[in-house]
Amino acid sequence: MAVRPWLMRCMVGTCLASPSFLPYCPPVELLGFLTEECQAAAALKEGMMLSFYGHIEELEWAAAEAASAGRLTMREAQDLLSFTESLNLMLCISRHRCAFSTVDDFQLAWNETCDRLLSRAPVAFSSESPCRDGNELMAVMGRLVHKLQSADVAQASTQAVYPADVAPVCQNRSQPHVTKRSRPLLFLQGTYGNHTVSSVSLSILELVEALATAQNRIMSDMVSVNLGAHDGSCGDAVEMDGANCLFDRGGRGVAIEGLELAQALHSRWKDVEVHVGYVSPEEASELVRMSLRKREIQEVDLLKIDLDHADCDFGRRLLEDLPPPAILHVEYNRLLPPPVRYREYFAFKKAGLMGTSWREGRQMAHWAGCSLQSWQDLAQVHQLELFQVTWMDLTFLRRDVAALLDVALIAPEPSQIFTAWLDSFCVAPSRHLYGHQAFASWDLRALADADVDVRCSLARRLWRGEGPRGSELYC
Ligand SMILES: *[C@@H]1O[C@H](CO)[C@@H](O)[C@H](O)[C@H]1NC(C)=O
Ligand SMILES: *[C@@H]1O[C@H](CO)[C@@H](O)[C@H](O)[C@H]1NC(C)=O
Ligand SMILES: *[C@@H]1O[C@H](CO)[C@@H](O)[C@H](O)[C@H]1NC(C)=O
Repeated sequence: MAVRPWLMRCMVGTCLASPSFLPYCPPVELLGFLTEECQAAAALKEGMMLSFYGHIEELEWAAAEAASAGRLTMREAQDLLSFTESLNLMLCISRHRCAFSTVDDFQLAWNETCDRLLSRAPVAFSSESPCRDGNELMAVMGRLVHKLQSADVAQASTQAVYPADVAPVCQNRSQPHVTKRSRPLLFLQGTYGNHTVSSVSLSILELVEALATAQNRIMSDMVSVNLGAHDGSCGDAVEMDGANCLFDRGGRGVAIEGLELAQALHSRWKDVEVHVGYVSPEEASELVRMSLRKREIQEVDLLKIDLDHADCDFGRRLLEDLPPPAILHVEYNRLLPPPVRYREYFAFKKAGLMGTSWREGRQMAHWAGCSLQSWQDLAQVHQLELFQVTWMDLTFLRRDVAALLDVALIAPEPSQIFTAWLDSFCVAPSRHLYGHQAFASWDLRALADADVDVRCSLARRLWRGEGPRGSELYC
């Protein structure tokens, strides 16, 4: 079994001895082995720490945004990310106090983490015990975000790649530059302001437009099936839902949404059949086929799936029952790197939970949907190839469509799929995107850093420890 030496060190619990690497929290050897009491104790502290975690996430967004606007050099962005991660570690250690076997072990880890934090701080702390002074921490974060937003343009724009002490696996990566092709991808309304991060990925609407042009068709002729249309919005500065955008442009098709708020969509689009309410994969497929038949539609240009639950069970069913779509755009579980295959099974009792129960929904977020590798396996069977991977979504193109559009695809070899996954994992604010790491009872860096065999066994341990019953995980 090939284990990187430093990971081996972490796994035998002496990671703290490595001066620069920020240790995993909770420690890797406890992955999936925290006692129930300890999990409950850590969960109790979540509420209290929520605002701190929110600030850490915002700092990462601000760093990423400043780097892509040329207001930070790559090095400065990395130093800042190193600081935010040490802050995160501080909070995590304090939340997982119960994971340490003695008070001394905890004190030692705490003291060392505090030293790391102070050595990475880009601005001075003034209080006597800065690591215990929550108000000062908040003030420091506020000052930093303000500085980032008002800094002068320093140099070329770049993406903010996590430094080696945060993510060894991201070392030596070519530094992706932000180009003219970059577009705003995600938006965060923060405490200190609004933040937008960019990506060079193509928007789904652009892809559909390109396809329409290549096929000599007009937008109102393009067809989409949208599973998870939410409130029907397309998004303003950032594209929230390419299928809704297409419908706004006169596109035809079917929209399905479980939430009641979608009732308003019945009268919104002329050529779109809307279904509101939770349905099973079989029911969804039946509804879609009936609607398409009624409209005499033979082919789907864009199949979009974002249901926050068992997404690839729906995908599997629709891909089996319909001709392969030109474009498949899906949300994925980005916490589980390739080649880990994870699939959440459909269950009616889970539908809609993400929207209703804060705690259950949040904790299930680690285990919602399907991993990249599972989607990739499914897509391959239906002539679909991976085209792009972003923080939230995957886009696949049918082989003939990729050839027609003359675009490069991501090769299906495991190493290429993993590299594509890393392209989004290594760029801030991936680690804290929309609160992910705040609630995790494990450190999502551990899986990425590990070599393949170790990654798979760690993932299995994790899944046995906390994964939902109705799901599968294997490599
Ligand atoms: C941690 O730091 C505190 C305050 O500086 C000190 O009193 C304590 O002895 C340290 N604990 C350990 C285990 O190093
Ligand atoms: C990065 O490059 C250095 C120097 O060539 C090498 O020692 C290190 O192992 C590389 N790191 C990774 C993660 O590939
Ligand atoms: C942030 O975004 C929200 C929602 O789009 C908007 O209402 C608000 O005015 C923005 N705030 C700032 C400071 O730009």
